[in-house]
Amino acid sequence: MREPGTSSSVACGPIGPRSMVGAGSAAGGGDAGGGDASAGDADGDAAAGDAAGVSRSSAAATRVGATLCTRTRRLGRFDFLAFAACACACLFLAIAGGAATRTQASASMTVRIMPLPKAKAMPTAKRVLSRNSAGSSDARRPRLGAADTSVSSGVVCMRDSSEAKMKIEGAVALVTGGASGLGEATVRRLAGGGARVVIVDRDDKRGPALEKELGERARFVKTDVTSPDDVQKAIDAATQLGGLRVAISCAGVGWAARTLNKEGQAHDLELFKTVVGINLIGTFNVTRLAAAAMAKNAPGDDGERGVIINTASIAAFDGQIGQAAYTASKAGVAGMTLPIARDLSAIGIRVMTIAPGTMDTPMLAALPEAARQGLAAGIPFPKRLGAPDDYARLAQHIVENGYLNGEVIRLDGALRMPPK
Ligand SMILES: NC(=O)c1ccc[n+]([C@@H]2O[C@H](COP(=O)([O-])OP(=O)(O)OC[C@H]3O[C@@H](n4cnc5c(N)ncnc54)[C@H](O)[C@@H]3O)[C@@H](O)[C@H]2O)c1
Repeated sequence: MREPGTSSSVACGPIGPRSMVGAGSAAGGGDAGGGDASAGDADGDAAAGDAAGVSRSSAAATRVGATLCTRTRRLGRFDFLAFAACACACLFLAIAGGAATRTQASASMTVRIMPLPKAKAMPTAKRVLSRNSAGSSDARRPRLGAADTSVSSGVVCMRDSSEAKMKIEGAVALVTGGASGLGEATVRRLAGGGARVVIVDRDDKRGPALEKELGERARFVKTDVTSPDDVQKAIDAATQLGGLRVAISCAGVGWAARTLNKEGQAHDLELFKTVVGINLIGTFNVTRLAAAAMAKNAPGDDGERGVIINTASIAAFDGQIGQAAYTASKAGVAGMTLPIARDLSAIGIRVMTIAPGTMDTPMLAALPEAARQGLAAGIPFPKRLGAPDDYARLAQHIVENGYLNGEVIRLDGALRMPPK
């Protein structure tokens, strides 16, 4: 990310310049606690004498059965019920242990384990099927969250729900900050998937270059996301291509400054306003105008008219020294996710936020290799910087998974930021 208003690179992503100091390595490796299941096995001969080929668990069943039957004889009553209990116990243990077919339970009694009947479909799966299939043509009918479920030969199969899936191909999308970094990767992925994408950025060098490279699948509209007029023009450009279905906000800036610096100077208030103005208010500006455009779309099968994805940062939760403005802006983006999703639920627009960790965008690419390696070393797993396409793939999944809504997803390799 670059700093606001200038082309210099005093900037901070989730990690300000101070955080180049590694966060301390996490315990790598991790044990693969496979654990074997054979401990505690009681070998030895079964009291009733095991027949050749009978499994160990069948022998255990035999022992339990023998015990039960001995007690039954001693009691001398409820013989029938006791016999039934004995048979059930043997059946259960024999099934659990494998395929034993015949077990001698005691000297006086033989219990035959019958072959299992063909497995039946799980009742819960049946319920899922009947409710979903019955209501599939009615978008207003409440649906279960699971993907479609089918039952074939007793096996429950899960498959993508065409109802819940909002396809990329043919969709019209808008990506702010689309000329660089995470936004650019998202533009490329969406365009590669067959979407028509409007690149919304104030960078009038990289934006047109990307537009030219992608050809008719992309259109660049020079935009300052803080300007209502600019953003409206970009959205109008998108709606001319068809109904705007996807709006992704990646435009953002960072700046590191302490609330009170070492010389005792207070944080520049204009700087604070600028960062919050672009990252938070600019994001909301795009969100509100995109929602207004999406509201005019015909609903899809699931009643969905569009999806909005905003970009916060793990600094929203783990803000470091010097990140007051950046964290305030990103915490705002994260915090408004749920209320906006609720606001827009009535018209079928989903709202999600991605909170990236340390991503390998042009900002970090400018760092010396040692600093980049230091950043990567602080990430528990995988020990690498996030790739812009990691973000783009998550954005694609959010678009396609119609049940994701009102949530912030961290994309950070389990990184938790230290104070500095
Ligand atoms: N890179 C990271 O490690 C990281 C981590 C967490 C969050 N983020 C967030 O992800 C987003 C993308 O970051 P990036 O690393 O790809 O940065 P980047 O600098 O590569 O891209 C940001 C883009 O936003 C554009 N932009 C900035 N202000 C704008 C404005 N007012 N109007 C229109 N366009 C504007 C820039 O021109 C640029 O093309 C940002 O919101 C950033 O805060 C980045």
